Amino acid sequence: MSGGARVLMMHPVLDPAPALLDEAGCEVVPYPAGDPLTEDAIRNAVDAGGCAGILSQVIDPIRETVLSAPGLAIVANVAVGFDNIDVPAATRHGVMATHTPGVLTETTADFAFALRMAAARRMAEGDRFVRAGRFHRWAIDMLLGQDVWGATLGLVGVGRIGGAVARRARAFDMRILYTDAVPLAPAVETELGATRVDLERLLAEADFVSLHVPLTPQTRHLIGVAELARMKSTAVLVNTSRGPVVDEAALAGALRGGVIFAAGLDVFEREPEVHPDLLGLDNIVLAPHIASGSVRTRSEMSVLAVRNLLAGLAGERPPNLLNPDVLAR
Ligand code: GLV
Repeated sequence: MSGGARVLMMHPVLDPAPALLDEAGCEVVPYPAGDPLTEDAIRNAVDAGGCAGILSQVIDPIRETVLSAPGLAIVANVAVGFDNIDVPAATRHGVMATHTPGVLTETTADFAFALRMAAARRMAEGDRFVRAGRFHRWAIDMLLGQDVWGATLGLVGVGRIGGAVARRARAFDMRILYTDAVPLAPAVETELGATRVDLERLLAEADFVSLHVPLTPQTRHLIGVAELARMKSTAVLVNTSRGPVVDEAALAGALRGGVIFAAGLDVFEREPEVHPDLLGLDNIVLAPHIASGSVRTRSEMSVLAVRNLLAGLAGERPPNLLNPDVLAR
């Protein structure tokens, strides 16, 4: 039964999710304002509140110190990514961990496409240009960009979000290359017109390299100096996955030196910090980790996370359980 369970709400979630917690009889313990987002401080809050559940978000480090709290049954992340949670430690301590896949796929794909368009067609730069009062007269060579239509898109990772980006790319007559540990089913490859290649070939042939991989030890700095050097000088890199997948210092060097044409980043290596060398560059579009940030989607993510949480607290299997092994214990 979730009734009466105490839930540590790390940050507010969006309507109608709070009402669902209320209806289920949960007692919400807000994370103390001003407390740092550190493992020790989160553990203290769980202990002090006697919490059986945590509603966490991507900025919360939910690791061994937190997961070993007595009485903790479930951590429900309001995100599809879960690199902020040590899932093996959760399993060891008998804590369920959940995330919110599916509901944010299309919204995130929209944003990845928007970043690609903005970087290729120099939209943010054009906006700054106009606001600075520098638009004196139309000129044939003003702020020329790269075409998106008909170009080659290289998808690094073609899971739910990568696939949704590919479907959008079809409407722009793009040729699609992809890398993924698991090949798409032949019927899906045909539907998307997508060809599986190795990363080296993808980097060499793509006009747009779009990252859609989770952050793991294998994908940390997947794109660094050597990978950027393989890309075309006219190419655009887009990252809406996780910041550490790209070596930001290497990217800044590549953008400054004309190794690639432009980039669009929604995520950063050390959020909310942005590598200072990127901030001074015109050929990069920067966004504050908002790819899933539409009114509808952030509400749906909130609701799905709460549904996962309530199921776990009620002793049922949450719909988006990351560590089913925990139930076999
Ligand atoms: C956002 O970054 C998410 O993983 O949902």
